[in-house]
Amino acid sequence: MEDKRILVTGGAGFIGSNLVHYLLGKAEKELGMTISRVVNLDKLTYAGNRSSLVKLESDLRHVFVQGDIQNSELVAYLLREHGINAIMHLAAESHVDRSIDSPEEFIMTNFVGTFRLLDAARIHHKERLAAGVDDFRFLHVSTDEVYGSLGPHDPAFSETTPYSPNSPYSASKAGSDHLARAYVHTFQLPVVTTNCSNNYGPFQFPEKLMPLMIQKVLRGEKLPVYGDGSNVRDWLYVEDHCRGLTLAMLRGKVGETYNIGGKCEMKNIDVVHALIAAVNAERSDLKRDAKELITFVKDRPGHDRRYAIDCSKIGHELGWEPLETFDSGMRKTVRWYLDNEAWIGEIERKYQLQRLGQS
Ligand SMILES: NC(=O)c1ccc[n+]([C@@H]2O[C@H](COP(=O)([O-])OP(=O)(O)OC[C@H]3O[C@@H](n4cnc5c(N)ncnc54)[C@H](O)[C@@H]3O)[C@@H](O)[C@H]2O)c1
Repeated sequence: MEDKRILVTGGAGFIGSNLVHYLLGKAEKELGMTISRVVNLDKLTYAGNRSSLVKLESDLRHVFVQGDIQNSELVAYLLREHGINAIMHLAAESHVDRSIDSPEEFIMTNFVGTFRLLDAARIHHKERLAAGVDDFRFLHVSTDEVYGSLGPHDPAFSETTPYSPNSPYSASKAGSDHLARAYVHTFQLPVVTTNCSNNYGPFQFPEKLMPLMIQKVLRGEKLPVYGDGSNVRDWLYVEDHCRGLTLAMLRGKVGETYNIGGKCEMKNIDVVHALIAAVNAERSDLKRDAKELITFVKDRPGHDRRYAIDCSKIGHELGWEPLETFDSGMRKTVRWYLDNEAWIGEIERKYQLQRLGQS
């Protein structure tokens, strides 16, 4: 059975923390592998939270390191010291609105940081090959936003859709995808890339659509929806994504890209209505009809109209399918946020403190 010693970057963020839980929880049984080490390298920006990892404190396979992927020396040390044979690279600046307000950090982490990580991986892989070990994989985690925006009747994004990024976020991710591709072709670094649609689930920073709306419904605050709410996204429950990432890392073909999606296109306004219904189903004590709180606000500049993803390749080649429907995933998500108000409270307090610290 394959034994993996994995460096996860960004493992204190939303998808990263879910991934680390998955790797040290269900992955071994579901995917027939052993995992003897998960080194979790995270800078702990505003989006990274140690509190998302408390349940792993007694798991000796998990080693948390606070640090920056741009620090090549630190990365080289971790790769060597822990005998890493797979990198799952998720660390990123990930919020589109923030990339419009201050793009530089996106270029530094998403592009320069990915370059430094790829280069440290290149040297590490070469050293392992020289020692007769050829088991290394680099999983580069990217987004469907690199493909641009679709019209209402356009076919869904496939792995051969030309890149057309529209925001500094998606441009920085597109740049990093090209670097990953170049490292396969120029240096034969065994990279596999995934491009995924919108995730939802536990441990998501409360600035993103679902946790934001859940909190606002609970507090009876206005529910801000961009434009007329008709922008369309494909939605995937985060644990399904984590299983897809682990499969792609284990069994994906080197140099290939796999699109991952939830087969679930929805207008933002319909997502908000579904959330309101799911919160109401859990909390019958909420008196107010939250639909009255929906407020349409000025659209984000350059807001992409529609994303849709054709994920048939990962289905055929690796046998991956999303297990949650939107309805089941949404109910799990709402219940998780209701059961974990302390987690939200801690993040909100920390975020306020950081904002004050910057002003
Ligand atoms: N959230 C989604 O719906 C989605 C969809 C498709 C792809 N992705 C991709 O998945 C990855 C994870 O997304 P997320 O939503 O979990 O992001 P997130 O913002 O919740 O987490 C990012 C994590 O990276 C860490 N980080 C940031 N800069 C770093 C640096 N320089 N060095 C080390 N750590 C750093 C942060 O502290 C944080 O813990 C990203 O690469 C993103 O582009 C996300």
